[in-house]
Amino acid sequence: MAVSVLFVCLGNICRSPTAHGVFENMVKQQGHDQLISIDSAGTGSWHIGASPDERSAAVALQRGYDLSHLKARKVTKNDFSQFDYILAMDEQNLSDLRDMQPTNYTGHLSLFLDFAEADEHEVPDPYYGGPQGFDHVLDLVEQASEGLLEHILQSHR
Ligand code: 4NP
Repeated sequence: MAVSVLFVCLGNICRSPTAHGVFENMVKQQGHDQLISIDSAGTGSWHIGASPDERSAAVALQRGYDLSHLKARKVTKNDFSQFDYILAMDEQNLSDLRDMQPTNYTGHLSLFLDFAEADEHEVPDPYYGGPQGFDHVLDLVEQASEGLLEHILQSHR
C-alpha cells in the first residue's frame, strides 16, 4: 500500500467509523484500493471492541455505506509509525493527537475538514444530540472525503 489514512475521533463509534466507511467506499468505487489503506481509532477507551453506534450505522446505510465490519479501537503511539495521514474530527482530538505525536513524525496530522470546502472546520460530536446530527456528520464526511481523495491522488501519482 502506498498511502495510509487513519481517521480519529473521541469514541471511534460515530464520526471516525463514518469517515472510515465513506472514504473506503469512495476509494474502492474509484479503483484505488491497492493504493490507499484506511483505518479509524478513538482517543478514548470506553468503546474498545464495540461496533459503530446504531444511529451512525443506520444513517450511513441509508446512503449506501456499510459500517458493520468496523470495531472500535484506541489510537496508539505506534499509529504514528504506521499512517501517512492522521485526520482528527475536532480540535480536541487534534490536540490529544499532538500530545502523543513523536517529534520525528513526518506524516500529515490535521483536521479532516481541512480537505472540505465547508464553513465548519470541525465534525461536531453527534453522540448526545438528535438524529439530524448524524446526517450532518455524513454531509461533512462526504465532502471532506472527496477533497482528501483528490489531494492524495494529486500528491502521490
Ligand atoms: P465519536 O462520538 O467520538 O464520534 O465516536 C462519541 C462516542 C461516544 C462518546 C462520545 C463521543 N462517549 O462519551 O461515550
